Amino acid sequence: MTQPIGRATAIVDLGAIQHNCSRLAAELGDGVELCAVVKADGYGHGAPECAAAAVLGGATRLGVAAATEAFELRQRFSDVPILVLGALTGAEVDVALMAGAEITVWRPGFAEFVSDRAESLGVVPRIHVKHDSGMGRLGERDGAAVLELADRIAADDGLELHGLWTHFATADEPDSDYFAEQLARFSAVAAEARERWPEICVHAANSAAALRSVDAHFDMVRCGIAIYGLDPMNDDPVPHDLRPALSLRSWVADVKRFEPGDSAGYGRRWTAEQPTNVAVIPIGYGDGVRRGLTNKGEVLIRGRRYPLVGTVSMDNLTADVGLETEVEPGDEVVLIGRDGTERILAEDLARRLETINYEITCGISARVPRVHDRSGLEH
Ligand SMILES: Cc1ncc(COP(=O)(O)O)c(C=O)c1O
Repeated sequence: MTQPIGRATAIVDLGAIQHNCSRLAAELGDGVELCAVVKADGYGHGAPECAAAAVLGGATRLGVAAATEAFELRQRFSDVPILVLGALTGAEVDVALMAGAEITVWRPGFAEFVSDRAESLGVVPRIHVKHDSGMGRLGERDGAAVLELADRIAADDGLELHGLWTHFATADEPDSDYFAEQLARFSAVAAEARERWPEICVHAANSAAALRSVDAHFDMVRCGIAIYGLDPMNDDPVPHDLRPALSLRSWVADVKRFEPGDSAGYGRRWTAEQPTNVAVIPIGYGDGVRRGLTNKGEVLIRGRRYPLVGTVSMDNLTADVGLETEVEPGDEVVLIGRDGTERILAEDLARRLETINYEITCGISARVPRVHDRSGLEH
């Protein structure tokens, strides 16, 4: 049994991230690049550390949502291309340009604005034009308008036309035909763009699409969830040879005897029906363990699974560890991860909470220190 490090700790196995990236990169054709998506602090895993492990695993580019994310990463990675996938305000454009980031554009007015700002800052940014092929969010819907905009960017000496991309709405839904529809729509625009600008970097696939169809790989795939060893289909990452990188741990601060009628936590939402012992574990929704797990979740202690009982509060939760228990104060508690032969996946929690694994790891709060385990990295 390992000793607890602190009240709540997320341990991130960087070797797993390196492995997941090499495994994804191995599926790509010659010259197809892997962009590691490390937005939202690397889906809660710690962006710079995960980006470094991803690069060791074969990622050649990084993707983020925000200018500040690009700026922070640029302090660590002087020459890895960083693409901002999201929308930028005027002020954020300057931050992205100063970070030497690549910028996404889908409106002519915004292209002109970026060109003007870039001229004042003395830089020529790489631009990726975004086609909304069916996600219904950011991007230009009309294929002809996408190509017209790319033309204008190519003709602007202050900008470098570098990429063309789209994003799938249903790549993680194997039964949906919409993925094929979007792919067909985007492929037509991409074919025309490649004809006009043979060097353009065409990209579309997120993790689900990268695993699902080689036709969606184009010149680069943008993988987020899979690099962290999480299953894009929210099921089980292991059959995809993905290794979950993050484990969330706490410890047993106390074990107390409960008699029938004794209750645990706010609102008395659980009452012992028979004599038992309850472990008090100092982690709660203030750390990102959702209150929805009240009377629903499980934890692992000494390699055994125990049910959460009573209300998950901000800083504590409680588990029924049984009458004849070996659990003692000081024991380590696993909320996500492995303990002996047992495991709790982020996907398990997501299903219980009717959400997706992305939200589970992104939701681990800033109060929880991320400890990066480099022991599995191969150089
Ligand atoms: C535009 C874009 N590309 C790629 C990704 C990576 O997706 P995934 O984490 O499903 O691989 C995201 C994440 O949401 C995204 O917004």
